[in-house]
Amino acid sequence: MSDEEKNIYAEPAEIDGDTLANLGPLRALAGVWRGEKGVDVNPKEHGPETRSFIDHIELQPIDPQTNGPQLFYGLRYHQHVISPGEAGTYHDQTGYWLWEPATETVIQTLSIPRGQIAMAVGKASKDARFFELVAKRGETTFGICSNPFLEEAFKTLAYRIAVTVHPNGTWSYEEVTTLQIKGTDEPFAHRDTSLLVNIGAPTPNSLALLKSTKG
Ligand code: HEM
Repeated sequence: MSDEEKNIYAEPAEIDGDTLANLGPLRALAGVWRGEKGVDVNPKEHGPETRSFIDHIELQPIDPQTNGPQLFYGLRYHQHVISPGEAGTYHDQTGYWLWEPATETVIQTLSIPRGQIAMAVGKASKDARFFELVAKRGETTFGICSNPFLEEAFKTLAYRIAVTVHPNGTWSYEEVTTLQIKGTDEPFAHRDTSLLVNIGAPTPNSLALLKSTKG
């Protein structure tokens, strides 16, 4: 059936409520994580500044979500970053990682308290140990939306994240946020990398818990 012929209200007939069992490549990210090897390259008035940082990331399974026939399994996340020797938050981010089994697609939504949101997309097989997602300014799907000051002064052209799951169960990310900074010619590559070590198991989603108590 072509997309045009699909009933946009028709939900999938059978949905397994156990998200942890259906997360595809995102299964390896579920849980609570700490990263002590973060490196950030950010824009400063007189050039790039490189700093180390410490990550705390919590990724918890949510109940399966449908848009009519479309089915997502996902993780809700909160990333909190501090920089050694600096008071307060260095970076904060919330959103969802979503997996669409039918199309082998991974989506990340992100929201950061600079007044900025983005949604990135990439393809990955069910067992992938590496996947890469991209969001681009100006797109109405998988785009970037910034508050007017950022749009004027630090125009965010693109966001890219590559995730690698390592054989010992740790995982790492490499992010590049491309900024067109007012008064400069060349785009600036705002880079962030970190290696995450597990410090806690995920809490099963509510439908999965219901299933396990019903037996
Ligand atoms: C671990 C991830 C990240 C860390 C640690 C981080 C950290 C930083 C830092 C320290 C600055 C400089 C702030 C200042 O001097 O006032 C900055 C600037 C910026 N970041 Fe990030 N960032 C991260 C990820 C992101 C992401 C994912 C985006 C957007 C998709 C983003 C967008 C921006 C923008 C637009 C600026 C320019 C505004 C400014 O310099 O005041 N950052 N970031």
